Amino acid sequence: MRFGMWMRMLTAGAVVAGFAVASAASAVADDEASIVRGGRLYDKWWAENKAEKPVGTHPSYQGKDQKDDVTWRCKECHGWDLKGKDGAYGSGKHFSGVKGVTESAGKDSAAIAAIIRDKTHGYTAAMLSDANVADLANFISKGQVDMSDYINPASMKSKGDAAKGKVYFETICVGCHGTDGKKIADAEALGAAAGNGVEMLHKVLYGQPKAAMPALFALDHNIAADLVAHLQTLPK
Ligand code: HEC
Ligand code: HEC
Repeated sequence: MRFGMWMRMLTAGAVVAGFAVASAASAVADDEASIVRGGRLYDKWWAENKAEKPVGTHPSYQGKDQKDDVTWRCKECHGWDLKGKDGAYGSGKHFSGVKGVTESAGKDSAAIAAIIRDKTHGYTAAMLSDANVADLANFISKGQVDMSDYINPASMKSKGDAAKGKVYFETICVGCHGTDGKKIADAEALGAAAGNGVEMLHKVLYGQPKAAMPALFALDHNIAADLVAHLQTLPK
């Protein structure tokens, strides 16, 4: 066999093998993108998907201190730490009386989607499209992080390394937020928001609804924890 023919056969083989690797990688990328979008919908779905802001208090809301649209945020009943009444929302002005979603980690996405559409939840297709519900179900099934690994639940302080976090922040985040975390004029200073460690970790892992902010979920979660540790040193 001539050398040129060998080369063509090798090239064809490499192209086929490369294609298989590329399509497996793009399936993983689709999944990760769906998970982080689900995380932002869990945060504040109508900011993320541009649906109408819900009107009136959610009929299943059992707390006393919140009302109207905010009671339709998944996080308002189930918590930033996903643990509901067994986590940070077990007391205080965000007490919701509802269990968390941790038992649904690893469950079938279709079963979770059915819960989001059930009578207790009452999310209509105008609020959350089927694609939105699929992203939420992916987040609940495959995207949950046990935040107590990274944030001390009692103090809300990050267990991460603030010195490393400063390096990440001043290279990745500084363009939008400034070194002092105050560059976005109409937003709360990051140092002031950072007291709530579990909320900060959620935002850093999954992104900020509506904002062109990166979501770091695909990276080692210690990077997000290090960033939160640095945010907790910023001026208020
Ligand atoms: C107003 C309160 C409220 C809001 C908002 C809310 N839920 Fe729930 N959720 C509940 C209640 C109540 C249950 C039932 C808990 C029980 O069985 O005791 C529940 C249960 C669940 C469960 C099953 C819990 C388990 O056992 O793991 C999942 C998953 C879930 N909700 C997802 C969501 C998602 C996603 C959103 C946002 C799109 C959301 N919920 C918004 C009240 C709420
Ligand atoms: C492309 C611009 C952009 C980049 C880059 C960016 N952010 Fe943001 N971020 C935003 C915007 C916009 C908001 C929303 C501000 C508001 O209105 O509260 C936001 C909000 C946040 C919040 C929520 C603050 C709150 O009050 O709840 C946190 C935490 C945060 N960013 C951390 C980070 C970190 C950490 C990085 C780097 C890994 C980063 N951001 C990179 C644009 C950006």
